[in-house]
Amino acid sequence: MVDAGEAAMTAQDMAEKVVVITGASSGIGAQAARQLAARGATVVPIGRSVQRSTELARSLGVKPLIADFANLIEVRQLADQILADHERIDVLLNNAGGLFTPRSITVDGYETTLQVNHLAPFLLTNLLRERLIASARTNPVRVINTASVANLFGRIRLDDLDWERRRWSAFRAYATTKLMNIVFTRELARRWAGTNIATASFHPGGVATNFASSSWLAGLVYRSPLKNLLLISAAQGAAPLIWLASDADSAALDGTYYHRLRRNGPASPQANDAGLAAALWERSAQLTGTGIPSAKT
Ligand SMILES: NC(=O)c1ccc[n+]([C@@H]2O[C@H](COP(=O)([O-])OP(=O)(O)OC[C@H]3O[C@@H](n4cnc5c(N)ncnc54)[C@H](OP(=O)(O)O)[C@@H]3O)[C@@H](O)[C@H]2O)c1
Repeated sequence: MVDAGEAAMTAQDMAEKVVVITGASSGIGAQAARQLAARGATVVPIGRSVQRSTELARSLGVKPLIADFANLIEVRQLADQILADHERIDVLLNNAGGLFTPRSITVDGYETTLQVNHLAPFLLTNLLRERLIASARTNPVRVINTASVANLFGRIRLDDLDWERRRWSAFRAYATTKLMNIVFTRELARRWAGTNIATASFHPGGVATNFASSSWLAGLVYRSPLKNLLLISAAQGAAPLIWLASDADSAALDGTYYHRLRRNGPASPQANDAGLAAALWERSAQLTGTGIPSAKT
């Protein structure tokens, strides 16, 4: 039996934690932002839509951070703002993403799904690296990346990251970036070993959100009148993200991919290819100019 005092303490068990969360303006990320804030965390919510991001931030009593990941300058400006506002970062949740159609190329020259779902979180994580490592010197830090069971249908080709040599489909491009999220997380665990930073990726389930709103095919499920029978709620979808961000044993967050709360979720054979992981990291660093200091605005 938990008495009222213990319940109040439990309710504030994330107090003093600074939680940066992308994709916080909608769906899984919005649920996680609200629930972690209710547990006392200082939530730093990031979204793309000005209206949705402002509404969410206002409900939490914090300022919205807005960035379109289809523009890497906005990702750099975002990192500068986070670093200016927060002396420490305890949890980074790279959750923003989606399935985008028709095929398009960003202002940076990359296929949009590749950039929004993989290159942008890769860049953001690396731009926050020093602050994450400094924060981890006093308390354990977590970096959690939202992937998907769709990774099973992905195929990473380093010679064709932008889908110029293969027939593009929104789903295959999406699935490939979700596989990249898993591969990136494993490589992050390897490269940042010994820094007291725990990391994992996960699949949230099939969740009724705005996800895939631009796709008529995915819309057959995600906008179906039966969607509440076919899909779980955003609150249910956020449960693994919240658990990984807070309660999961950090020793178990060793770069592993979770299927909801279960370790070692089903993944493409490429997810365990260490050579591919190292090469994808190097390519992603080249494509994002990681290592080049951010221009002050
Ligand atoms: N729903 C599912 O069944 C499912 C299954 C597996 C994995 N996932 C993953 O779960 C994560 C969250 O998706 P969700 O289901 O919660 O969908 P959602 O409701 O559409 O939320 C997606 C979030 O990503 C943000 N976002 C999208 N494009 C962006 C861009 N160009 N720049 C910056 N932010 C951008 C959105 O911002 P705005 O709303 O402000 O535009 C929104 O906050 C995604 O990574 C998705 O791949 C979802």
